[in-house]
Amino acid sequence: MDSLNTQIATHYTTGGLYDRITSALVELGLDLNSIEPDDLHPVDEFHTAGIEATDMVLESLKIDPDSAYLDIGSGIGGTARKVARRYGCRAVGVDLTKAYVETAGRLSALVGQDDRTDYRVGSALEMPLDDGSFDVATMLHVGMNIADKEVLFREVRRVLRPDGVFAVYDVMRDTEPGDIAYPMPWSSVAETSFVSDPSDYRDGANAAGFALVSDDSYRDHARDYFARVMAAIAKNGGPPPLGIHLLMGDTAPQKIKNYVDCLTAGLIAPRAMTFRVPVS
Ligand SMILES: C[S@@+](CC[C@H](N)C(=O)[O-])C[C@H]1O[C@@H](n2cnc3c(N)ncnc32)[C@H](O)[C@@H]1O
Repeated sequence: MDSLNTQIATHYTTGGLYDRITSALVELGLDLNSIEPDDLHPVDEFHTAGIEATDMVLESLKIDPDSAYLDIGSGIGGTARKVARRYGCRAVGVDLTKAYVETAGRLSALVGQDDRTDYRVGSALEMPLDDGSFDVATMLHVGMNIADKEVLFREVRRVLRPDGVFAVYDVMRDTEPGDIAYPMPWSSVAETSFVSDPSDYRDGANAAGFALVSDDSYRDHARDYFARVMAAIAKNGGPPPLGIHLLMGDTAPQKIKNYVDCLTAGLIAPRAMTFRVPVS
């Protein structure tokens, strides 16, 4: 792994994650012998608006039990588990961070989904996957760690079949110029953060031969979501035991504050785009 990717994986490696997640499940009064996949959603959807956003991204995709599905930058595996369970297909996840890949596998085993999900360590820019082997790929909140969007789209196109679909849900630049504050949930420092303009995604996809299908800002949804989260935290006197703060270490409160401040100021916003590989 090159030094940039090592720095990025180090940012995401917080130590003892599986044990901290299972301790939080127990604190919530759940029995570790009967954890359901939905019980994990507060922690295993590490992107703006969590499972709400996952559902919105999946809504537009056609996935069936025979689909070959890939989640790029799969984190601790929530989106892949959700897809495998909802559509009855097999799901592959690729992620740079070894500790996340290991945790993803252990969580799938915990909820009895290890026969349907397969998580592998690898970079989105050089995936350990065969050419033309997937029908649908998703990538949720990963591109902020990837500088060259065209290289990314070329690699995704390589592993997709003709007519394959690629859905992206990333934090991108919004309408206002200005410096982004760090630490952010995806990067402790500016040097490992590559938040791009939506046009960089569209241009990269176009250069790689994808056709744009849809492009939607989730700014308003994200602002509403964080208003609800902040109100619940104020009411309950702190975050619930199980949440994505478990993935962000001691600086979680500062990361979330910086994110919400930049979102509110119009510097950044989550955005969803869907692309298709043309049939030649
Ligand atoms: C904010 S997390 C999102 C994880 C997951 N997609 C989710 O929504 O729960 C970003 C993830 O991208 C992964 N990542 C960052 N750069 C990557 C790269 N070049 N290739 C593969 N994974 C990468 C990180 O290891 C981390 O798991």
